[in-house]
Amino acid sequence: MKTIIKELNENNIDMKIIEEAANIIKDGNLVAFPTETVYGLGADGLNEEAISKIFWAKGRPQDNPLILHISSSEELEPLVKEIPKKAKICMEAFWPGPLTMIFKKSEIIPDAITAGLETVAIRMPDNEIARRLIKGSEKPIAAPSANTSGRPSPTKAKHVYNDLKGKLELILDGGGTGFGLESTVLDLTEEIPMILRPGGITLEDLRKVLGEVQVDQGIINESDGIIPKSPGQKYKHYAPKAKMFIFKGPNKDVVSRIKEEKKKYEKEGKKVGIMCTDENYNLYSGENIISMGEKGDKEKIAHQLFDILRKFDETDVQIILSEAVDDSEIGMAIMNRLMKAASGQIINL
Ligand code: TXA
Ligand code: MG
Repeated sequence: MKTIIKELNENNIDMKIIEEAANIIKDGNLVAFPTETVYGLGADGLNEEAISKIFWAKGRPQDNPLILHISSSEELEPLVKEIPKKAKICMEAFWPGPLTMIFKKSEIIPDAITAGLETVAIRMPDNEIARRLIKGSEKPIAAPSANTSGRPSPTKAKHVYNDLKGKLELILDGGGTGFGLESTVLDLTEEIPMILRPGGITLEDLRKVLGEVQVDQGIINESDGIIPKSPGQKYKHYAPKAKMFIFKGPNKDVVSRIKEEKKKYEKEGKKVGIMCTDENYNLYSGENIISMGEKGDKEKIAHQLFDILRKFDETDVQIILSEAVDDSEIGMAIMNRLMKAASGQIINL
């Protein structure tokens, strides 16, 4: 199969291309499209055979359920058993936007979407290209991140192409994605809402409108052997080819420890890369030092993170030493992705 890339401008969308893309979805085939978080690999969310192509293209484990994407709030009702009051509050406050909510599923949802669970994940993306595509397809679109399973999620069309070329019909290239990390996943089927995956809508944002909100302990204390509730969170993720370590603590200690470790690995003949913040960039020397952005500019760090992890793959580094970032607000999502990329290897100083 030849994978075609078509450029689209979110502010001036060529509806002929949208129609063409929607027809591919209606025919049961795959289209990758931009959202405000990361690129999605889309298929007709009510067509089992189309859904199975997503799992095949990504090499995704069958027990990891998918998110259904809708283009307006009215499309939610047929997909779920009930819409809890707290969900209505969140829809009002955060949709369209990077918030995925877990509902009790209705009868029309195929098992392939939910991996056999009684619940279904749904979100309305804040990207006009994505929403026009969904509307044109006349179906909810199932879309995981459009990367090969285990790799960093794609924030540019070329990331999708590099991972999946030959496995899908069309990539809609809407330029770089905005936020750059996947949506927050919030479970609303329990009394107290619970964050299953941190993202662009933060714990602080949610508490402002919902009051009490908890965070799944499995995503915070993974190293303590607590299993995360969301199936996707238990897998190795976002992994660059190099082995990665994260250093957390007072800035001075972090910098000096990273320098020490770099020397140690280089003595063993290993190539070492460093992922740091702007403030510390000049304190390190050598090649393959990439800054994530200023410490205080967590939006920029989130926006660039997956692209930087992929950039290290284009080098020959075998070890990546990374500074941690402060984990409040969207820092929680950044640290969650960093921890996964490093398979949980964090050195607390
Ligand atoms: O920002 C995003 O959410 C992107 C864009 C494309 O929309 N999509 C995305 O999909 O990140 P994916 O498949 O890479 O991640 C979906 C996550 C997985 O961790 C999965 O386990 C979880 O959502 N999930 C899906 N359905 C669930 C359910 N019923 N209960 C618990 N977790 C669920
Ligand atoms: Mg993913």
